[in-house]
Amino acid sequence: MTEKDFLPGVYQKLLDNGKVTWKAPSNIALVKYWGKKPVQIPANPSISFTLDACATTTSVLFEKKDNNKALSFDLLFEGQPKDDFKPKIHTFLERVEKYVPFLKEYHFIIETSNSFPHSSGIASSASGMAALSMCLMDIERQLNPAMDDALFHAKASFLARLGSGSACRSIKSSLVQWGAHQNIPNSSDLYGVEYPFEVDSVFKSYCDTILLVHKGQKQISSTVGHQLMHGHPYAKNRFQQAFDNLDKLKSILASGNLKEFITVVESEALTLHAMMMTSMPYFMLMKPDTLEIINKIWQYREATKTPVCFTLDAGANVHLLYPEADKEKVLDFIKDELIEHCENGQYIHDRVGSGAIKINA
Ligand code: DP6
Repeated sequence: MTEKDFLPGVYQKLLDNGKVTWKAPSNIALVKYWGKKPVQIPANPSISFTLDACATTTSVLFEKKDNNKALSFDLLFEGQPKDDFKPKIHTFLERVEKYVPFLKEYHFIIETSNSFPHSSGIASSASGMAALSMCLMDIERQLNPAMDDALFHAKASFLARLGSGSACRSIKSSLVQWGAHQNIPNSSDLYGVEYPFEVDSVFKSYCDTILLVHKGQKQISSTVGHQLMHGHPYAKNRFQQAFDNLDKLKSILASGNLKEFITVVESEALTLHAMMMTSMPYFMLMKPDTLEIINKIWQYREATKTPVCFTLDAGANVHLLYPEADKEKVLDFIKDELIEHCENGQYIHDRVGSGAIKINA
């Protein structure tokens, strides 16, 4: 599909008002998106596990308004008006208006809440933008009932990408690839697709325990971090490495070779942070406890041969990835050795999920 496919024709139906609710999960990248071109085009392809427990639920109430064609909406976060979130949502709505022109016809009340604690250091932009995009597509499908499922999901992902790149991987299916790659059929820079190759069953119930190392405000936002890949001395090699890692993952994911899986995933995490440390200006999001946890994981893996590994997103928290079959053992390891490195002992158990769902009123 191309950008033109996402421009709707004339809507077939008219609606005065309504309400839709969707819940969308967060995701954790195995091959990382870091670096982009305008508008929200990734510098390299990425792939992620969709999560299950970490999610945002968003309701959109819409009511036809008079001739005033300016965007108008109220925003409630966990039941309270949240004016500091409004500019981000406003920018998003302006950016997508061309593709969902009904936006000008209604006043919206957007109510949103997260399953994970606010300021846990877990980015809510992926799940938040995905949930809002699903709501917008649900409204559009009511105005245009002929729309098929393939277009519905691709366009939801396309809209979500315009809100936050990684959000386009939080729409549908458990392993999602985003970014054009010559060896991955139907891959696109415009939206995420279900990973099209064979995936061993071990990955279908993979666990992710998120160790909350540092819950404070980040020193540098992802948006700024992406920009710093422009003119970065290692950018070209890094982007090529991501393409190559996606090639490597093909046989790893098909065979369930956890040793090689761990090598790719941990290398991706450390490379992401190496890019931050070698940007100009340089910065570091890992904390001493992040490194303590990584070292303990390496020691534990060496000693017990349990295939547990880590990945990181743009922050200090550590995602511990492991097969469901090893859950008991790993939970003991977390309690005995890792909790002491978490802020207030906090962590969140999650696992691979399957994408956004509609919540019926
Ligand atoms: C490190 O999707 O948060 O988590 O497009 O500017 O909103 P924007 O960036 P964002 O970047 C995520 C970066 C990452 C890696 C990843 O999820 O692939």
